[in-house]
Order: sequence, then C-alpha cells, then structure tokens
Amino acid sequence: MARPKIALIGAGQIGGTLAHLAALKELGDVVLFDISEGIPQGKALDIAESGPSEKFDATMVGTNDYSDIAGADVCIVTAGVPRKPGMSRDDLLGINLKVMKAVGEGIRDNAPDAFVICITNPLDAMVWALREFSGLPHNKVCGMAGVLDSARFRHFLSAEFNVSMKDVSAFVLGGHGDTMVPLTRYSTVAGIPLPDLVKMGWTTQEKLDGIVQRTRDGGAEIVGLLKTGSAFYAPATSAIEMAEAYLKDQKRLLPCAAWCDGEFGLKGMYVGVPTVIGAGGIERIVDITLTKDEQVMFDKSVDAVKGLVTACKGIDESLA
Ligand code: APR
Repeated sequence: MARPKIALIGAGQIGGTLAHLAALKELGDVVLFDISEGIPQGKALDIAESGPSEKFDATMVGTNDYSDIAGADVCIVTAGVPRKPGMSRDDLLGINLKVMKAVGEGIRDNAPDAFVICITNPLDAMVWALREFSGLPHNKVCGMAGVLDSARFRHFLSAEFNVSMKDVSAFVLGGHGDTMVPLTRYSTVAGIPLPDLVKMGWTTQEKLDGIVQRTRDGGAEIVGLLKTGSAFYAPATSAIEMAEAYLKDQKRLLPCAAWCDGEFGLKGMYVGVPTVIGAGGIERIVDITLTKDEQVMFDKSVDAVKGLVTACKGIDESLA
C-alpha cells in the first residue's frame, strides 16, 4: 500500500518542525508548500538529508505550486504570520484571514478528501474561515489548540508534583486564547483529580491557580522569550499527535477546535472541545456537563470566539 501523503501548508518554524517529526515517525510522504520561494525546497532537502542517519523512509518535496499537494490525506495549515511581543493572537486576524482564503481554495481544488488541521492564529476564527473557504465537510476540518494547551498544563503540573508527565492528564476547553478553560476537576495525576490533590496537601489552591494562569499565558510566555516569533516545537508535536490519530484510526480522545452544532448548547461554531479523532476525522464530540462556574468561563470564551468570527465577516463579505 502506498504511503499516506501529508501536505504542510506553510513551511516556516512550525511547518519545518512538522515535516521533521512526520519523517521521524514515518507517518507518510511529506509535501512542504509555501509562497516563499526556496524555503520549502531548502527545508525539504535538509530534512531528506537527515534520512540516512535517522533511517526513515519518507519522501520530502518542497514546492510553491498547489498542484503538488494533490491527493493529500492530511493537510496541516500554518501559513500566515505569527505573533511578536506585545501582540495578541487576535491582532493577526486581518492578515491571516486573507491567507486562509488562498489556502482554503488551494485545498478545495487539490486535496478535497484530506483531514485538515489548522494551526494558524487566531485559531478558532481561522479554522472556521478555512472551513468556509474550502467547503470541506465540518468533520474533516479542525484546529489544533487543546492538545497544546493541555500539554502545557500537564508539563507545569508534572513539575509542581514532581511526577512523570506520563501520569498527568489534563483537560482544557474553550477558545485558544486568554479565555481558555483549564478544567481542574477533570485533570488528574494517575486518576486523582487536582482538587483532591489540593485536599491531600500535594499543592495549594493558590499554586494551582498560578499554574492555570500560566497555562492560559503559555503562548505569550514563549513569544516574550523568543521575541522574533512564537512557539513551534510543542505546537508541531501537538498537531502531529492529531494527524497520527487520524492516519492510524487511533480513536484518540483529544481536545481540539471542532465544529459544534448542538453540542455544548452551541449552534454552528468552532471552539475547543473534547473530540474523538479516528479515520472518520472528528468522529465524536464528547459533550460533558459543565458546573455553573465552568459554564460561565466557557461562555466567556465562546463569546470571544464569536466576536472574532463576526470581525472576519466584517472584513470579507463572502463570509457573511
Ligand atoms: N500561503 C502559504 N504560505 C504562506 C502564506 C500563504 N498565503 N502566507 C504566509 N505563508 C508562510 C510564510 O512564508 C512562512 O514561511 O507561512 C509561514 C509561516 O511561518 P512562520 O512565520 O515561521 O510562523 P510559524 O511560527 O510557523 O507560525 C505559523 O501558526 O501558531 C500559529 O500564530 C502562529 O499564525 C501563526 C502560524
């Protein structure tokens, strides 16, 4: 059987890392697409030249021509501009919306059967726009945010508790922004929920609140340190986890920006929710019941996403 084809739209910091990870994990043959001439070709050749040492079997192609993504099984979209210090993800809206139009049409015309994972920010609005421009089925277009936010939460928790991150699971809902909702009662160390760990004296509520806030600000913390761009290793790893779940029909339960139409009381919008990802794309949304406080936080996050979608409609009439 032929190897799966993975198209990476955007060959910048995240795109290059995605290509390297996909090769190392032998997920399939990789096509790196970018509007910038030479960058995708250079990165593809560089990664291909790491093959003899790493001993992976995967072809690497760099291109500026959409026809090279034809028939892709997975498309991961990072095209656009990243944040600089002082910018919020929302500040990227106008410029990245135009990019989503070009990318959506490119995918529609060349890889309409692909499972599409959007990473470009502001994530929840961009994945919505990308779906609109591409016209692909909603269950085949999703956004990477929750896996990354949960990974950041898990990393901080494992450091606080001094236990392996393998035994820490975490749950983050809502939009990929300052209003994201880390759910402590569903986040556990070896099955013990965080509120119980506070009661057991493993940590304090104050420290836990600090970790929740650091998770919310996780992207900005890295932007502040890098100064010239935003995070790329963990975002790429998170998207690869989602792509692998689809390609290998793993039926992983992963939080991601998915189309909710009825779930969580929402009527037709993208926001971060727990999903099952398998060969059918987003196969299921796990519609959990929220407490009153969680619902207030989730509603605030949903309102923030709705505001961005309305702004997109104001910028591009075809979306209204
Ligand atoms: N089509 C294809 N590629 C494009 C387009 C376009 N219309 N416009 C820009 N690009 C390319 C740029 O040439 C660049 O190589 O997108 C790439 C973006 O790479 P980086 O600037 O390195 O950004 P990166 O760190 O990879 O982040 C990409 O993901 O997390 C988000 O906020 C982040 O929106 C940003 C995106």
